[in-house]
Amino acid sequence: HDQGHQPLYNALELSKRFYQAQLSRHDEGKRGIEYLKQRGLSGEIARDFALGYSLEGWDNLIKAIKPHSSIQQMEQAGLVINKEGTDRFYDRFRGRIMFPIRNHRGRVIAFGGRILGDGKPKYLNSPETPVFQKGNELYGLYEAKKANRSLEELLIVEGYMDVVALFQLGIPRAVATLGTACTRDHAKKLFRAVNRLVFCFDGDDAGRNAAWRALENILPELHDGRQAHFMFLDQGEDPDTLVRKIGKEAFEQEIKQSRSLVDYLFEALSQQTDINSMDGRARLSELAKPLIAKVPGQVLKQLMLEKLSQMVGITTEKLERAIQQKPAD
Ligand code: CTP
Ligand code: MN
Ligand code: MN
Ligand code: MN
Ligand code: MN
Repeated sequence: HDQGHQPLYNALELSKRFYQAQLSRHDEGKRGIEYLKQRGLSGEIARDFALGYSLEGWDNLIKAIKPHSSIQQMEQAGLVINKEGTDRFYDRFRGRIMFPIRNHRGRVIAFGGRILGDGKPKYLNSPETPVFQKGNELYGLYEAKKANRSLEELLIVEGYMDVVALFQLGIPRAVATLGTACTRDHAKKLFRAVNRLVFCFDGDDAGRNAAWRALENILPELHDGRQAHFMFLDQGEDPDTLVRKIGKEAFEQEIKQSRSLVDYLFEALSQQTDINSMDGRARLSELAKPLIAKVPGQVLKQLMLEKLSQMVGITTEKLERAIQQKPAD
């Protein structure tokens, strides 16, 4: 069915080139370049990630690619919006830094657009289209694969700027889930690329919640030999700000010292329970059981059981039996 999507890929590729040209050649594009500079991004990194700029105005893109793409194709690709109740269309992205999202083969499948100042929304993204399913795509995966002959580890971050900044500062192996949770499909895709994941979300409540959801979603993908670690940033920090503050070497150290999934899991659970009381330990084991049961890797499962056993003071044999028991209802 990929053949049928060709006109959409075509419209998206034309748009990418148009946005790039506006950034480097148009007078108004200088505002975009100023913004990138102020964020500490180089011209080289802008080229690596094919960053561009969408002009203010309602129909710059439409006019530019109309000779090569029909308005219906532009609409299907998420590039233009139909003005309700009319047969008129306007550009979706206006006055924004454009981040092309590429699939694993390097084809542009969507865009994210950042406003230059404090306006809202901060980021505007392509809608879901026949070539773009959000829960399945990872920004930066194509670029990371291209930059690394053999890729062993991926960092999972929240945002476009995190991926690009880490890449520029010498850590060219971050991918972003683009404001959605790390889904089971993401986990599958990630573990097809590497055996070691390091989650590095923003140091805020949203980031911490995203880390826990990621943990839940990757448990069913943890076959033996696969690993996941979690980095927790100070309040208000994100990977972009942190790597600029401490530099590549210190950031790599932070990655090395990141918490293992097992440590994170039990630490989070024991914060919800009082393991000094019998009730608390019973509760801890109730919370842990369904999570451990999701893990297909036998070695890792055993490790988790042993850790739980130490914490609650029950033998692993008894725990194993309890986990295999079907729920009463
Ligand atoms: N996001 C989005 N729409 C928004 C806000 C965020 O799609 N209105 C997504 C973007 O993919 C963004 C990510 O969620 O990159 C993380 O959001 P946030 O931490 O707020 O933004 P940053 O990536 O840190 O962006 P910046 O540094 O440019 O402020
Ligand atoms: Mn398809
Ligand atoms: Mn955030
Ligand atoms: Mn940021
Ligand atoms: Mn952020």
